[in-house]
Amino acid sequence: MIKLNDNYVKSFIEDKALAAIAEEIAAADVQLRAKSGPGSDFLGWLDLPVNYDREEFARIQAAAKKIKSSCDILIVIGIGGSYLGARAAIEFIKSPIYNNLKKDTPDIYFAGNNISAAAISELISICEGRDICINVISKSGTTTEPAIAFRIFRELLEKKYGAEGARERIFITTDRTKGTLKAFADKNGYETFVVPDDIGGRYSVLTAVGLLPIAAAGIDISAMMEGAANARKAYTSADLSKNDCYKYAALRNLLYRSGKAIEILVGYDPCTLMLCEWWKQLYGESEGKDNKGIYPASVIFSTDLHSLGQYIQEGERILFETVLDIKDSGVNIDIPFDSANVDGLNFLAGKPLCEVNRAAMQATLLAHNDGGVPNIVLEIEDRTAASFGYLVYFFELACAISGYTLGVNPFDQPGVEAYKKNMFALLGKPGYEAEREVLLGRIQ
Ligand code: PA5
Repeated sequence: MIKLNDNYVKSFIEDKALAAIAEEIAAADVQLRAKSGPGSDFLGWLDLPVNYDREEFARIQAAAKKIKSSCDILIVIGIGGSYLGARAAIEFIKSPIYNNLKKDTPDIYFAGNNISAAAISELISICEGRDICINVISKSGTTTEPAIAFRIFRELLEKKYGAEGARERIFITTDRTKGTLKAFADKNGYETFVVPDDIGGRYSVLTAVGLLPIAAAGIDISAMMEGAANARKAYTSADLSKNDCYKYAALRNLLYRSGKAIEILVGYDPCTLMLCEWWKQLYGESEGKDNKGIYPASVIFSTDLHSLGQYIQEGERILFETVLDIKDSGVNIDIPFDSANVDGLNFLAGKPLCEVNRAAMQATLLAHNDGGVPNIVLEIEDRTAASFGYLVYFFELACAISGYTLGVNPFDQPGVEAYKKNMFALLGKPGYEAEREVLLGRIQ
């Protein structure tokens, strides 16, 4: 469950403004549910928690078991929506230092989200002497970054295990029928999983895209789907007083209209870092278009209180924050007593760290409010798989409603193509000759 605490945002928003936007939110709800809004071919995520392919789900669990028993390292190759959700889940539920934990599941590394020779060669050296599996994830099957990484790691696997052995270690998640990757997988006999046609990359974490790597990390994906199903059930009313998900969409739109163009998602635990990255893609790609959109940023406190904290407190007043308040972090440590008390910290002796972290959060909420920064607080029960599933659905649904309220199509990403075209032209891809000439002339 998620509870929206609006105590730190109320004073920035008039009651009548909330009442006025309620009608727009209700209209967005109608558009979404009637599938009459822009991008309505991409609403598969809406019912996914209760309407998913059970046969494929069982195959995902079987493949995760095979991966766990046959490798020390799983390399997940994908970019954007094809990797952020899985990484967010593993770090949120298990740990941001999952690979360093004592465990009976493989280390998981993410590749194909950059073109850095250093990053790839470091990963190759980590793989030396260890058993490897690969999960390549690309809906289109044509994205350059993961395609390059796949080429490199496939060669490594084939050298190590032979083509036959590599076949057992390569898992492909892509379109059901279309694309180069699907054709290549079928030709080579790799096991494949589906990115449904009606679910875009950034809404796909609860499909095989996220579920296979998440299951390989030993996370209960059934509980995750149940959590998402609970959220789906919880957010059916268009009445803002009964729907915290829609209220979040309403508040952020109101703040945007009052000049708060930047939303900072705030975590108080490093386990939320990649969740913030996933959220940034979800909101950035969904809303940043037609010269509109809230710019999604993120911070992890206390870390960033000692870097960006200064700007948030006293910089340009164009910010609002959305705080992830995890009620139960699952572990605790008490601050030790020290008879010498050189650091003067004995007033904290015996106090659980989570209480100190909570005090840091409350102190920051008040300080930032005093500095003119509205804060929406999302209270999250814990770090379980069920809570993660719930959170994913909450943010996806809020994003769709928010995007429609903003007046954009929250399910396309036309702007992502611009750099791709230029890169193909500069690299001399056949068919891009004319563009190449123009671009070379512009490069200084
Ligand atoms: O949300 C999206 O659609 C994008 O971020 C894609 O996930 C990303 O561009 C990767 O695309 P693909 O899965 O086709 O390789």
